[in-house]
Amino acid sequence: MRKNIVAGNWKCNTNLQDGIELAKAVNKLVVETGDKKATVVLCPPFIHLTKVVELVDSKSVSVGAQNCGAEAKGAFTGEVSAEMVKSTGAGYVILGHSERREYYGETSEILNKKLALALANGLAPIYCCGEALETREAEKQNEWVKKQLDETVFNLTAEEFKKIVIAYEPIWAIGTGKTATTAQAQEMLAYIRQLIAAKFGNEIAEGTSILYGGSCNAKNAEELFSQPDIDGGLIGGASLKAGDFIQIINAF
Ligand code: PGA
Repeated sequence: MRKNIVAGNWKCNTNLQDGIELAKAVNKLVVETGDKKATVVLCPPFIHLTKVVELVDSKSVSVGAQNCGAEAKGAFTGEVSAEMVKSTGAGYVILGHSERREYYGETSEILNKKLALALANGLAPIYCCGEALETREAEKQNEWVKKQLDETVFNLTAEEFKKIVIAYEPIWAIGTGKTATTAQAQEMLAYIRQLIAAKFGNEIAEGTSILYGGSCNAKNAEELFSQPDIDGGLIGGASLKAGDFIQIINAF
């Protein structure tokens, strides 16, 4: 059975002190009231990772980075390698978020290097895909997402792909308060699962956790997560408030 996952993408928010407080608050709520139907992953900024890993109950809360470098090590000022992320005790890494693709020029070529390094270092990539509004309006979203997968994670071996979590995040729904309808999200996630089945077979497709992201919140999570192909969420804004985030975690 595939895992339900609720991952909080804090993005570039919280200084170290605020981040520690947020992680403590989420951890407390998960330990006390979490019903354990979902794996909870906190993805704070890099510099918080070590502290957050130390303070959470590792049986209840996992930790991930929001990115990692495309090179293993060396003269790459400002980069944080997959090995460094792993050495903090983090288990996941978000790769290919639309903000990284758009603002930092991340191409499929770069993402393939990051995916390889993440996997070689034992991190589980949360690989993001999703289309812009004009692509959706032109009804080309399926082709777009297929291309993003074909150029990256579909080049992995089956054994490697089993470690991947997919997050479908339509760009027009991220941080806009405009969630995809439950039907739109379910339809795309079912389509992604079909593509995985065609590439790697049914067993792997059924075992892959596929998340929805984009203005998922305490109010709409339950309906989204009730869909057969939606295995959880990648949560931005609503992961910054422990009280909202726990409601999303418990929405299964
Ligand atoms: P949002 O962000 O929940 O604030 O829309 C989701 C994401 O970008 O991961």
